[in-house]
Amino acid sequence: MPSERAPIIEFDRVSFQYAASDAYALQDISLTIDEGEYVAILGLNGAGKTTLELCINGIIPNMVMGDLEGEVRVAGVDATDTPVREMAKTVGIVFDNPEFQMSQMTVAEEVALGLENLGVPYEEMRGRIADALAMVDLVGFDERMPLALSGGQQQRLAIAAVLAMRPRILVMDEPTSNLDPIGKQEVFEIAARLNRDNGMTVVMAEHEVEVMARYADRVIVLDGGRIVANGTPREVFAQRELLERIGLRPPQATELALWLRDGGAGWTDLLPVTADDAVTALETRLAGVAR
Ligand SMILES: Nc1ncnc2c1ncn2[C@@H]1O[C@H](COP(=O)(O)OP(=O)(O)OP(=O)(O)O)[C@@H](O)[C@H]1O
Ligand SMILES: [Mg+2]
Repeated sequence: MPSERAPIIEFDRVSFQYAASDAYALQDISLTIDEGEYVAILGLNGAGKTTLELCINGIIPNMVMGDLEGEVRVAGVDATDTPVREMAKTVGIVFDNPEFQMSQMTVAEEVALGLENLGVPYEEMRGRIADALAMVDLVGFDERMPLALSGGQQQRLAIAAVLAMRPRILVMDEPTSNLDPIGKQEVFEIAARLNRDNGMTVVMAEHEVEVMARYADRVIVLDGGRIVANGTPREVFAQRELLERIGLRPPQATELALWLRDGGAGWTDLLPVTADDAVTALETRLAGVAR
């Protein structure tokens, strides 16, 4: 990580218990995310991924009842004590079911919604809508009906609606879990592009470990509301015992290398996390055998 990067999200000993629940959904979470990082949040169902993400834009504890301990600082403000509509200028959040995020008759109106709530003047609004639609490859879709779009297009529209607010952080909660393979790919590519080309900080809860291994700078693994691993994809996916214990599958490339190693193939290289890594490592080994 380049050293000039500055923290944009800081959790300091955060614990959260939903009202009417006697267990902690998050326990003693301390983490720092730098501006421009792409961070994947992994963990099984109920691990606390959504809860953690809702703390970033202040929905927890401002709109969801419960007991929060500790501090959440986001872009220099106390997220626990800032109105959610104010946080929305810094943190955009996209959920798993795009259909439920659509409420307007046209794509343009859907993108305009948040801007109207902010009181953005009409002329500026038009510019922001056009920019946001371009960023998600939906140029020319302005007058289309959101509910008639494909799942992938709807999810890109949901991303455009938050981008129109010009946030510095894009939080996504399993944004591809209801999409077909093409829709998934479109959404992952847009998130990667926004991170790479626009320097946007991306926090993505996902089950697609292969994709996260490819795009994320860092992987945070939650289990029972606690952070159990936090490091580069290579560092985290090499922790085989830990992943097995909590029931999280490593990327297939890592599994292949582990399988070769256990099979006596004497794998001594770093464990690969992406298919490209695995191919390079295998080619090197095969070249050695052929010599
Ligand atoms: N509104 C709520 N009220 C009470 N408990 C909740 C509420 N939402 C979540 N929980 C509990 O908090 C814990 C963490 O849930 P959370 O939704 O954050 O997990 P998750 O990692 O996002 O899971 P999933 O992969 O299923 O989305 C779980 O034990 C869950 O049952
Ligand atoms: Mg969730």
